[in-house]
Amino acid sequence: MTTYKLLLLPGDGIGPEVAREVEKVVAWFTRSGLAAFETETDLVGGAAIDAHGVPLTEAALDRAKAADAVLFGAVGGPKWATVPYTKRPEAGLLRLRKDLGLFANLRPAICYPALADASALKRELVEGLDIVIVRELTGGVYFGEPKEIVTLEDGTKRAVDTQVYTAGEIERIAAVAFDLARKRRNKVASAEKHNVMKTGVLWKEVVTRVHAERYRDVELEHVLADNCAMQLVRNPKQYDVLVTDNLFGDILSDVAAMLTGSLGMLPSASLGAVENGTRRALYEPVHGSAPDIAGQGLANPIAMIGSLAMALRYSFGLLDAADLLEGAITRTLAAGLRTRDIAGPGANAVGTAEMGDAIVRELQAKAG
Ligand code: IPM
Ligand code: MG
Repeated sequence: MTTYKLLLLPGDGIGPEVAREVEKVVAWFTRSGLAAFETETDLVGGAAIDAHGVPLTEAALDRAKAADAVLFGAVGGPKWATVPYTKRPEAGLLRLRKDLGLFANLRPAICYPALADASALKRELVEGLDIVIVRELTGGVYFGEPKEIVTLEDGTKRAVDTQVYTAGEIERIAAVAFDLARKRRNKVASAEKHNVMKTGVLWKEVVTRVHAERYRDVELEHVLADNCAMQLVRNPKQYDVLVTDNLFGDILSDVAAMLTGSLGMLPSASLGAVENGTRRALYEPVHGSAPDIAGQGLANPIAMIGSLAMALRYSFGLLDAADLLEGAITRTLAAGLRTRDIAGPGANAVGTAEMGDAIVRELQAKAG
């Protein structure tokens, strides 16, 4: 059996707590003989700043490049609010995305039946929701130059961020979305703002061309990004795969996440190009470091554990193992277990470790 090399980067805030639970699941898979992993751990974000003065060391970056997949927790927190901009905790994550070439960010928003009432939207709008946001992750305004604050002659300041996209960058993310749609309900919605932005004009043009040349069998719809935000809260189930740029994807994926009841539920995959049959990949929960509850054992580990399920599926092709793990999460929820974020007012909540243990028990029950 192949032994897969996993690099665990727990990071800051609740990152280490939820990473501990995913380690239990990794250990279970290795024990059970269903998959074999060799796990290394390194620092990222504020934790790396504290230890090494930078949010990601070259050594950690090299380890990430050598790994079959990276499992990332979360970065950032008030403790590092005053570190210089280029060394802020988030810069560690952005460097990983850029240097590993992880241009395709898949963010599923699935509403588990047991949680439909935890959503801020009415049950009938979200029950059975199953959409994936495909966010472009290494271009756009996140990385465009110039990116600066300059002082003008009159002493006032001027800030610039630059939104840049090449046709090639749009083409490859569109192909990821269309390929994914073919394995799902065969529908892609592409969100941009061609009514205001040149990058939107090119985005729409390229997506239209890629569709016409290679994916005529897939249903394609263009939607303005602001309208898309509105549609997501009005009638989210109209979508299947939603493809969009880096910044709109950041925003729309938070909206989509909240439809499902909790940010604590959602995993994500960041994938590079396929080369020689493999691709670089980093898996991370959509939620952040949640400094307000860090260290208290309250965080929901499901997004982190679901990120491992995505790694099983997309990096290792272990589809049965991925199904098994996703099934264990579903059954744990169906059995009534809730961390505080999804418990609802007045309901009993379990802690991070209890939720992780319960998921491992469900795995054991099904496999054993
Ligand atoms: C995300 C986060 C990051 C982003 C931050 C932490 C840099 O919000 O992954 O959605 O903006 O991409
Ligand atoms: Mg975000």
